[in-house]
Amino acid sequence: MQEKRPLVEALEKFHKQKSISFHVPGHKNGLLSGLPNVMKETMRYDLTELSGLDDYHHPEEAIKEAEQLLSDTYETQKSFFLVNGTTVGNLAMIYATCKFGEQIIVQRNAHKSIFNAIELVGAEPIFVAPEWDELTKTASYVSPDVINKAIQQYPMAKAVVLTYPSYYGVASSNLKDIIDLCHVNNIPVLVDEAHGAHFHVNKGFPKSALMYGADVVVQSAHKTLPALTMGSFLHFNSRLIEVSTINKYLRMLQSSSPSYLLLASLDDARSYVARYNEIDYKHFIDRRKLFIHTLETIYLLEVVQVDDPLKLLIRVGAYAGFQVQKAFEAQNIYVELADTHQVLFILPLLKGEHEYPFADIRKRIKQAVDELRKELPNSPADIEPVIQHSISTLHMSVGVLSEMQGEWIPYTRAIGRIAKGMVIPYPPGIPLLIAGEKITVAMLTELEEWLEKGAVFQGEHRLSEKLIYVVEE
Ligand SMILES: Cc1ncc(COP(=O)(O)O)c(C=O)c1O
Repeated sequence: MQEKRPLVEALEKFHKQKSISFHVPGHKNGLLSGLPNVMKETMRYDLTELSGLDDYHHPEEAIKEAEQLLSDTYETQKSFFLVNGTTVGNLAMIYATCKFGEQIIVQRNAHKSIFNAIELVGAEPIFVAPEWDELTKTASYVSPDVINKAIQQYPMAKAVVLTYPSYYGVASSNLKDIIDLCHVNNIPVLVDEAHGAHFHVNKGFPKSALMYGADVVVQSAHKTLPALTMGSFLHFNSRLIEVSTINKYLRMLQSSSPSYLLLASLDDARSYVARYNEIDYKHFIDRRKLFIHTLETIYLLEVVQVDDPLKLLIRVGAYAGFQVQKAFEAQNIYVELADTHQVLFILPLLKGEHEYPFADIRKRIKQAVDELRKELPNSPADIEPVIQHSISTLHMSVGVLSEMQGEWIPYTRAIGRIAKGMVIPYPPGIPLLIAGEKITVAMLTELEEWLEKGAVFQGEHRLSEKLIYVVEE
């Protein structure tokens, strides 16, 4: 059954008909496109909601069947294909649970899409601080104790929003305790599982939040499964939220012209997950083990293994991760992210029939490290995480903040001021300053360290001129 890919089949069938297009899209099966031929070929499948291809927002044929197979695979009440990434799933799950002025408990190191959702809804975030993970030197997951305190303090909170696993592949085994605790208090748990779409393939991976009873789980299929960029899954398994409400917001927030290439790739990714077997897993694990072993023979190079076997952290002596990234890129090896300490690899989720050029990769990495050693290490001073109170709220609510004038000031003069723009080192996308927060010395010290290491920032800032955006006094 799971070999079936209803959307892929519907597209192939349509393509074989040699149909004439008097419909959108305007490229007319690629004919009018100036793109290279290989891209034009693919455009033949860039179809739209025609007879036989179903209707994305009211599915009754191929899309419905494909989403049912997705739901069967992940054992959910209902699952959806998303064409605007986990970003749109995060928006929809927050819109579905929370209204203007209502409280929502949120893990502070959430992705910016969660913060955007809270701002758009006008909800009042209650931030819960994550633990510091010494192994990866990153903020990781929240402890059940902190969630318990937050619920006691804010019993009217409409939902708890968690990120699991972390970008760096740290997966908390406390998640079940948190979910049980929230459910006892009738609070739904919404999980941004952007980096865990592959967890379902084998017991060797951490468990998905779905297995622990989360109400809504959003996964970026495009991050770890063979799906096109922007392709995600939203899984629903709740008695506390109406699925029709989630569906309503997905219809409002997503395009009425979904990409069928993208949808077909999600159908294929689901089939990939469902058919991934023990032999595939063993093949992946064996190749990974050998790769790690050969990397560890390179002088100064250290491989850090985390909970998720698909992720590896690579450190090279006292070199900053940004330096390592640059050296790797000179050898055409592109990593997922760099920070002060390390670079992050996302490995390919190989099946038995796949090979990856690990021997060549090892050679290039050796070359990169040899070149790097000619430079001085930009020794990563241990960046202490911003010490937040375990539970914090905004100094100024989102609603009030939007009415206030802002001004640009040098960040060195910002202590005690209220941030109006977010400052987010990206990757990893964890906000350093959140709009509405009072700026502390610790926050600015961390900002300076990121700047020194050459980090890239998102948000509303002019850090190239050392300026940040704050509420006018
Ligand atoms: C934790 C987390 N959540 C959400 C997102 C957004 O996902 P998408 O790119 O699928 O919209 C990302 C992307 O990096 C992420 O890391």
